[in-house]
Amino acid sequence: MAELLRATGVTKRFTGALALDGVDFDVRSGEVHVLLGENGAGKSTLVKVLAGVHRPDSGEVVLADGVRLAVIYQELTLVPELSVAENLFLGRPPRRFGVVDQARMRRDAVALLDRVGLAVDPRTKLKHLGIAQQQMVEIARALDQDAGVLVLDEPTAVLTDTETDRLLEIMAELRDQGVGLVFITHHLDEIRRIADRSTVLRDGRSVGVLPRGASVEEMIELMVGRSISEQYPRHRQDPGEVLLKIDGLTRNGVFQDVSIEVRAGEVVGVAGLVGAGRTEVVRAAFGADRYDSGHVEVGGKRLAGGDVQAAVRAGLGLVPEDRKGQGLVLTSSVGENLGLVTLGSATRFGVVDRGGQREKAAGMASALRVKTSGLGQEVRELSGGNQQKVVIGKWLLADPKVLVLDEPTRGVDVGAKVEIYELVNRMTAAGRAVLLVSSDLPEVIGMSDRIVVMAHGRVAGELPAVGTTQDQVMALAVQEIPA
Ligand SMILES: Nc1ncnc2c1ncn2[C@@H]1O[C@H](COP(=O)(O)OP(=O)(O)O)[C@@H](O)[C@H]1O
Ligand SMILES: [Mg+2]
Repeated sequence: MAELLRATGVTKRFTGALALDGVDFDVRSGEVHVLLGENGAGKSTLVKVLAGVHRPDSGEVVLADGVRLAVIYQELTLVPELSVAENLFLGRPPRRFGVVDQARMRRDAVALLDRVGLAVDPRTKLKHLGIAQQQMVEIARALDQDAGVLVLDEPTAVLTDTETDRLLEIMAELRDQGVGLVFITHHLDEIRRIADRSTVLRDGRSVGVLPRGASVEEMIELMVGRSISEQYPRHRQDPGEVLLKIDGLTRNGVFQDVSIEVRAGEVVGVAGLVGAGRTEVVRAAFGADRYDSGHVEVGGKRLAGGDVQAAVRAGLGLVPEDRKGQGLVLTSSVGENLGLVTLGSATRFGVVDRGGQREKAAGMASALRVKTSGLGQEVRELSGGNQQKVVIGKWLLADPKVLVLDEPTRGVDVGAKVEIYELVNRMTAAGRAVLLVSSDLPEVIGMSDRIVVMAHGRVAGELPAVGTTQDQVMALAVQEIPA
């Protein structure tokens, strides 16, 4: 197999962090080479060095003659205000007599979207699409660039199973055509399905290369440097009083008559396909969006609709799905972000207790193993998964009665996932309640006590978590509701 790219001894230092330390990496024609490692291991930095975005401090990257490299970055690089078609051909729209050929752009866009299985009107503004759909647009754009080497940095983190299946098919087709693919994912099952070999990074160093067929245990052990005994360490207990009651919640045209109860000590999972209305329901319950009828109670007290402050005061917390947009102040420090919800509460004799707050923030950062040079580091410099840990840590510190987690482990590595699960256990052991919205079926089944399945904006059914299979959850999720 022809070698398309070779990186040798790549070292990259940022102020305060050695992100890459003498990494060797190569890509051959017709292979999927997975880059595996915990959040902050240096994967995205390596990608940016390969793409020439970052200059390495030492080492070199050589691309074979005439080979083009395209990258699907972890952070979306699209423009929300532009249409889907304009985003697809950003900077290189088809022209006719010097002007942009709109008709052709639309036709080409439809063909590209069709290739990734995305059925949206190319004239739609990008901002009106969900995150998963935006990711598919990003992928479609990269496919159009005839790259010899295609790098995908955690593309499946925001995709559903169906979209992921489609992407893996496309990747296999490209591989058959001789493209060399670099694939980053935290979903170890995807690696088992598609990887020809996997290079494992830990703390900026390449610690080994696994062949095709490596087991999940081998991957985890090499990646985290220790073995993890249980992927879903849920400690179940007898539930207490009802802490969250969502009763007949309806937003016309979006979700109808949704009722969910969560008791003290309980984790209730909410499963369903993308578009089933899960995020919409929890946002409305939290007061972030309006609803038309029904009501929400926390600890027996009815919440005024549409009032986030009141919801927080009543003891409700929400780790939102779109953490970058809603959960963090990117230009503030890790410490400040961790304190965002608690700032008011950490007072001593009426003044904000900065010292106590620092201590708590530091404790949480280390409990979640947030990889940072210190509490003073700006959150935007952290790797994606570590940013997510900060949002979760912020809410865990606030210690609400009821915590709603919307896709809490999306893009988070296995080690950190288990740490988040342990914190969920700690909350329920302390008599708190957790509502866990997740598209990760093994996670909902492994970490919930009961599972509410939503379809088409309604509750399609409820299942006990223990003994339930993924197929049983899916059967409810895909159920058609008679018109
Ligand atoms: N622009 C930057 N400035 C400072 N530090 C950075 C920057 N980009 C990445 N880092 C640091 O480099 C390390 C590796 O990050 P990254 O490559 O994003 O990890 P991964 O993609 O494996 O999760 C982390 O400690 C991260 O905080
Ligand atoms: Mg990354």
